[in-house]
Amino acid sequence: MSVTLQLNNLHKRFGGLVAVKDVSFTLSPGEVVGLLGPNGSGKTTVMNMISGALPCDGGRVTVGAKDITRMKPHRVAKHGVARTFQLVRPLPTLTVGENVMLSLAFGHKRYWGRQARDLAEEKLAFVGLEGRGDEEVSNLNYIDQKRMEMARALASEPEILLLDEWLAGLNPSELKIGIDLVRHLQGQGMTVLLVEHIMEAVRALCSRCIVMRTGEVIADGPSEEVLSQPAVIKAYLGDDHA
Ligand SMILES: Nc1ncnc2c1ncn2[C@@H]1O[C@H](COP(=O)(O)OP(=O)(O)OP(=O)(O)O)[C@@H](O)[C@H]1O
Ligand SMILES: [Mg+2]
Repeated sequence: MSVTLQLNNLHKRFGGLVAVKDVSFTLSPGEVVGLLGPNGSGKTTVMNMISGALPCDGGRVTVGAKDITRMKPHRVAKHGVARTFQLVRPLPTLTVGENVMLSLAFGHKRYWGRQARDLAEEKLAFVGLEGRGDEEVSNLNYIDQKRMEMARALASEPEILLLDEWLAGLNPSELKIGIDLVRHLQGQGMTVLLVEHIMEAVRALCSRCIVMRTGEVIADGPSEEVLSQPAVIKAYLGDDHA
């Protein structure tokens, strides 16, 4: 464990819209960094390009010495990068455990059968879903769906975890549980890029924040400093989440 995630001049266009423009930053091993910005500022698009879900139009993504820019998602996972999705999308015909095992099959190492089942159980226990692997996904309430989504991401045994509003929609007590879970990962040395609108979570978890506005990075530095910058406050004005 201990790889750096580096983005160099990432660029993405959707037709005439420049969604991400010259985005560059580096995450050091073990850093938990907030990626903030108003709705539509390009945060999810950045995550999609890192994880291989979307091809970039320019720029480079490297993990350690490895260039992962043109890799498909399953190969990115093999290089130790995993993500959760802003919209949780479990495979509804599979059980909770099977949803997690599916990720295991595509991770760093491949696991099958008994070993995969045990590892899936281990990840489910870690996120608070101990012994619930045989349940139908449709039985899960919202926080448990979020937990399963996290277990799926962890199943590939990542070193770098991209969380896209993983804490969104939780009630206050669930939010505490969610923050504790991320903190636990932080304690294990996980590198985390946390896209989040909930400032309580950002302040609790991130010592550093990167702020985007209309596709560009407008601030990057220690959280307290960044969050008090006039340009950052202005970027959020008028936004629902400000
Ligand atoms: N697949 C797509 N096709 C066309 N436009 C897209 C696509 N994905 C995103 N966009 C546009 O790109 C811009 C950035 O979107 P993105 O989802 O990255 O923002 P975001 O910062 O994640 O916002 P939010 O906080 O609402 O999740 C937006 O204007 C969005 O409408
Ligand atoms: Mg988004």
